[in-house]
Amino acid sequence: MANEANEQETGVQRGMADVVAASTRLGNIDGIQGKLWYCGYDVIDLAQYGSYEETVYLLLHSKLPTIQQRDTFERELGRYRRMNPGLLRLLCNLPGAPTPMEALRTVVSAMSAVDPSPMDKSRQANLRRAMRIIAQMPTIVAAHWRLRQGEEPLSPTEELGHAANFFYMLHGHAPAEVEGSILDMCLTLMAEHELNASTFAVRVVASTLSDLYAAFTAGLGALNGPLHGAANTEVMKMLLEVEQTNNIDGFVRGALTAGRRIMGFGHRVYKTADPRATFLREVLSELDGRLPGVHWLRLAEQIQDTVFKYKELYPNVDFYAAPALYGLGFPMEMFTAIFACARAAGWGAHVLEQYDDNRLIRPTTSYVGEIGRVYVPIAKRG
Ligand code: COA
Repeated sequence: MANEANEQETGVQRGMADVVAASTRLGNIDGIQGKLWYCGYDVIDLAQYGSYEETVYLLLHSKLPTIQQRDTFERELGRYRRMNPGLLRLLCNLPGAPTPMEALRTVVSAMSAVDPSPMDKSRQANLRRAMRIIAQMPTIVAAHWRLRQGEEPLSPTEELGHAANFFYMLHGHAPAEVEGSILDMCLTLMAEHELNASTFAVRVVASTLSDLYAAFTAGLGALNGPLHGAANTEVMKMLLEVEQTNNIDGFVRGALTAGRRIMGFGHRVYKTADPRATFLREVLSELDGRLPGVHWLRLAEQIQDTVFKYKELYPNVDFYAAPALYGLGFPMEMFTAIFACARAAGWGAHVLEQYDDNRLIRPTTSYVGEIGRVYVPIAKRG
């Protein structure tokens, strides 16, 4: 309440809500109509008819590729998948028991140490850096998970597409067609979302003219909070808990009465349904029975109806991405890291966009503390 009063007095927009802090040609959200476009293309068309690689190309080059451009781009991404042996050793030797996001953040940060041309700050070099990070993030995540299970990491294969190779590196076999296409859709839907917290963090770091690795590391840090990218893991925990107790109404009412957030619901920008959630729900619904774990969908749908009944909140993309990924056999502890792998495309594109027309991002604050205090030497303080 005190903060709200301050906000009115000082004109501060808490959480920078509705503040326009950058221009972009990348993501565009209509929160009233519930629409999302990447570079002018409806995200649902990209998810339905395109591929994650096409989306990455679109975000990095501002246009969709021709067949030849796509093939060349895919080959290049495929070649970049393999981790530097030193980074693999680092992953093997991380102390303690880091979570997938902690391991990913550390190794992405360390990628700067093995950059093949550290002095080259050209746009082309930065584009290659972005591609290398985008290509290697799934390799890092899959390798870390396998090491955690006491298994040998699998080398990436260039034979498979980005999503299918990710699946392969985790499970040790290529996905069935339907599994590959669901994962590809999830990655595409999560690839870009204008100035969300992690992308803002990425752009702030880029605006100091720091490097891409530093910018991605900041993005990974911001994404890892439960109000942002970690919501998907929490959604799955909730689905498992509600399945156990079999009391949806009690769970939802209990959470809302206690003032707890229901994960996977609400959004800063969407005032209606998140189109990505609606689309994923439809896709999973059509797959009924063809994808293991689709029964989570039924439970999720009932929770959605119950939440709406008590508090007119709409689900966001995390709410349906969680059962989709769980159905694909991805452990829930890894969901946020998968989100990060997808969002790497948007982060890379935003760094390039920031560099292209840079001005240091340095907002200001409204000082609300005490003024004119007199310094008293420590020995004389009571
Ligand atoms: N569960 C319960 N209530 C929620 C809610 C949720 N998931 N999301 C928002 N609300 C309620 C708030 O309690 C508040 O209610 P009030 O006006 O009665 O006090 C109102 O909706 C506005 O919430 P606010 O926190 O101001 O919105 P925000 O724009 O700052 O927050 C999120 C946006 C995403 C952080 C928020 O919706 C949330 O915490 N969601 C759950 C986490 C999540 O799914 N994150 C992934 C986002 S893609």
